[in-house]
Amino acid sequence: MPVNNIEDVRKNVKEWKKEGLTVGLVPTMGALHAGHLSLIKKAKETCDRVVVSVFVNPIQFGPAEDYDKYPRTLDADEKLCNSEGVDIVFAPTPAEMYGGGRLSNDTLTYVCPPFFYVNKLCGKTRVGHFDGVCTVVLKLFNIVQPDYAFFGQKDAQQVVIVKKMVKDLNVPVQIIQCPIVREESGLALSSRNKYLSEEGKKDALVLSRILNNIKSCYLKGITDVSALKETAYSFLTDKHDLEYLEILDKNTLEEKDKADDDTIVLIACRVEGVRLIDNVYLGGK
Ligand code: PAJ
Repeated sequence: MPVNNIEDVRKNVKEWKKEGLTVGLVPTMGALHAGHLSLIKKAKETCDRVVVSVFVNPIQFGPAEDYDKYPRTLDADEKLCNSEGVDIVFAPTPAEMYGGGRLSNDTLTYVCPPFFYVNKLCGKTRVGHFDGVCTVVLKLFNIVQPDYAFFGQKDAQQVVIVKKMVKDLNVPVQIIQCPIVREESGLALSSRNKYLSEEGKKDALVLSRILNNIKSCYLKGITDVSALKETAYSFLTDKHDLEYLEILDKNTLEEKDKADDDTIVLIACRVEGVRLIDNVYLGGK
């Protein structure tokens, strides 16, 4: 059975720590797929005990976003976690995490990551999103007090921002970043892929195709960022609503004129109204 209660998680973790066991946390919003599973497997390899949190975090969704319709599949998620040997599935209610009342920065202490990191990519259109992410992630870190926490490169801006928060606020946790898991077609796995029709899934392949093409141009010697970006446009049709295509430093998210091995290419594009994101490192891992 999932644990819904913060105190019960704390009690368990306290016992583990007394025994000198290491603790890993995999934060998720549920609707678990093979991408999440890769994080769980890495956590199992790395740590003695593993907690997976399943919480659709209301404060990271904007008013016009999909909080209400976000897929919730707790029974299946729990089965999957059990089969992977997860020790605790922590699935709190919004009231357990935030108490009752209005959730706003008038009434709740928020973690606000620096403007430089949120004023771009997903943060540009998802205003307040990373405040919500950092706030819930820091709360989860304080509840579980993990030695290690596992995040996917799929959400590249998120993991850069979480690492920055951990460094700036001296949070005693090591962040482990895991590679993107894809379908054989190249489509990056995402809980939001469930919203796509079969046709939409084919149209969604444009994201990984654009990224692969930019990477192969880079490997052939093209480093000029504008020239690399130009190569994308021939892939786009009226089925694609491109939100951004950026070529940045993979650690600092700073812009550059010339790509190098520390460069990341990030894309966000809507297909059938579904917002999809993907990215690739030009220099390999
Ligand atoms: P969620 O979208 O459920 O993702 C949970 C974790 O799984 C994130 O670290 C994400 O990067 C990783 N992940 C998702 N798809 C992946 C894929 N195809 N390959 C590898 N990893 C993948 O990200 C969130 O939830 C939330 O913002 C959260 C951090 C839980 C805070 O609420």
